[in-house]
Amino acid sequence: MPISYNPETRIFKLDTENSTYALQINQGGYLVHLYYGKKLPTDQGLERLSFRGVYDSLSPQSPYVDDPYFSLDIAPLEYPCGGAGDMRIAALSVRGEEGNAVTDLHYESHRLLKGKPGLLGLPASFAQEDEAETLEIQLVDKVTGLHAYLLYTVFVGYEAIARSARLENKGESPAWLERAYSACLDLPSMDFDCVHLHGRWAKENTATRHPLHHGQQGIQSKRGMTGPNHNPFMALAGPACTEDAGEAYGLSLIYSGNFAIDIEVDERGCTRALTGINPAEFRWHLAPGESFTAPEAVLVYSDTGLGGMSRAFHKFYLDRLMRSQWAKKKRPLLINSWEAAYFDFDDEKLVDFARAAKDLGIELLVMDDGWFGDRHDDFRALGDWQVNEQKLKGGLKSLIDRVNALGVKFGIWYEPEMINPDSGLYRAHPDWAVCAPGRGKSLSRHQCVLDMTREDVRDNIFQQMYDVISQNNIEYIKWDCNRHISEAATLSLPPQRQGEFFHRYVLGVYDLMDRITTAFPHILLENCSSGGARFDPGMLYYSPQIWASDNTDPIERLTIQFGASLCYPAASLGAHVSACPRTDIHTRAAVALWGTFGYELDPYKLTEEEKEAVKAQAAAYHKYYDLTHYGDLYRLTLPTENPFLCDWMFVSPDKSQALYTRVIMRRPGVVYQVAKLRGLDPDRLYRDEDSGEVYSGAILMHAGLDLSAKRWEDLADGTCVVKHFTAL
Ligand code: GLA
Repeated sequence: MPISYNPETRIFKLDTENSTYALQINQGGYLVHLYYGKKLPTDQGLERLSFRGVYDSLSPQSPYVDDPYFSLDIAPLEYPCGGAGDMRIAALSVRGEEGNAVTDLHYESHRLLKGKPGLLGLPASFAQEDEAETLEIQLVDKVTGLHAYLLYTVFVGYEAIARSARLENKGESPAWLERAYSACLDLPSMDFDCVHLHGRWAKENTATRHPLHHGQQGIQSKRGMTGPNHNPFMALAGPACTEDAGEAYGLSLIYSGNFAIDIEVDERGCTRALTGINPAEFRWHLAPGESFTAPEAVLVYSDTGLGGMSRAFHKFYLDRLMRSQWAKKKRPLLINSWEAAYFDFDDEKLVDFARAAKDLGIELLVMDDGWFGDRHDDFRALGDWQVNEQKLKGGLKSLIDRVNALGVKFGIWYEPEMINPDSGLYRAHPDWAVCAPGRGKSLSRHQCVLDMTREDVRDNIFQQMYDVISQNNIEYIKWDCNRHISEAATLSLPPQRQGEFFHRYVLGVYDLMDRITTAFPHILLENCSSGGARFDPGMLYYSPQIWASDNTDPIERLTIQFGASLCYPAASLGAHVSACPRTDIHTRAAVALWGTFGYELDPYKLTEEEKEAVKAQAAAYHKYYDLTHYGDLYRLTLPTENPFLCDWMFVSPDKSQALYTRVIMRRPGVVYQVAKLRGLDPDRLYRDEDSGEVYSGAILMHAGLDLSAKRWEDLADGTCVVKHFTAL
């Protein structure tokens, strides 16, 4: 059993294959965190870990624990509350009818569930009854009558632990949630580097690493959406943690709105990490009988470095979060019209694209922005999801029939959450655009955000989408979202409940995505948000792939893809070969092969030589599909650490194949280059498909692969080496 309970010590022990997570109900009914780390065979002695540091007289003594040295302020806690003696960042803060925000949770009961319950209205990991076990602990705040249900799920065969919290008002008066985080992790030291992903448009998911310091630190979004600025992921890496060795804790939040990952290092040098909905701009009214579900957080412990942590996330998200049938189904090789045509296309041009693409081995054509209303630029028509028959003469059905007749599938672009003031929808419903009373509407890319908290708005957009999708053979949708929310307010809630807006917006988006993916489960959905501005686990639940960046320059992409890979599997990373001139088409393809792979260029502008290259790449896409989509990723040389070159490899789960890629970013000063491969079986022999040479796995990993060049030309900027190894 992955979860055990010792009634004598009142310790819960949660075991994955390689880690143990332990917590205890203490004498005062507080839920105390004991341990998270390398797997422990027993819980013997764990209870001694429930105190951290010397009590000092400034820390309030709890009236509920008969021990003068116990204070909530120094105890490691599972779900700390505000106002009852713990002065660090709280996970929960509830303001009751009395007007104060003192919150104090005590143990009431617990139960073990088979499998994994879903979270109401929220994306979450899933498992069948025999694939996971869930511990539900009920805690109660006696004054407000608020009950907190903390959920911990351990999955058979995965290193992840999923945590969430449900809050129920069983009292007689309303309460206000002022913060309701999903998970807290109290660690007994501050010897960690914080590793997280920052960025901006065209430079998403750049990894950064820096030591923790005393005090508060963290990352967040207040944009209404995830944003490119920070990703809802963080790793706490021990001092000796490298790519391949050492301890790392990964925290990832399955959420697509205002999030926070907060860290506080206290006066004793202990670290508290919390993640959940950002409390800034959040205030939720909970009437008696109502409940609130906080999104799910996923924790991963690794003692095989950041690489081990990433591989654990990849496997877990691929198998236990991406619910689309396309997560594990071979996806068609696609070409997208955006960088090839922007708004300048008609049916003839698209059919021509499909014809040329077919000759190159491409299987699906995506008609990007510009097919609806009078959308001939980005100033108008968002919200008017009717086909523009002046552009697509004969209508969409006729276009798709012609494309399908060539043996090419068809996909389409939507931006369902947005509205241009210059649109029929806006003229009919100006109040559907998000705006605070009395304020002007700030535009962004000439558009406003639709009030997705409203059911009537969602119904309208769903119906418009349904009408088009149900009448046409659409097999792929790109769901875009190109602005963030300002003047946040909704007419659907009274003034005192406007603090619910942001979370209700996200719930509205999830509802619409759920309706579309449920109505059309056969459709391959790709998310996008001005590139990778909503690259988060919440979106992965609905769409197995997310466009990683509008920046398709392969050298720039290396940083973006290396960063995203800290948490997200290659199978989710939208990556295309574009007409970017910085490198030749081979390097562009080598980098795009890391992700979902596809094209974003005008096939008529390719030279004959490039066309031959594309045909070979299409074959490589199929050949290496399983390896790059389901294989284990090893990051070898990081572009954030080495300015000259970077390399990575995929190894099949049975270690029978590997694909190694090296990109030279700037001609390095050293000509002699050896790449030490990883993840292979040391005892097996591997053949380099190119040269026919055979090496043992041990030699490739310990002595390395000699990639030194005899001529400087072979080390030119932007060139690449791709090697496929097969075990004999
Ligand atoms: C965003 C996306 C692009 C493209 C355009 C269309 O910027 O990131 O890929 O779809 O919108 O307007």
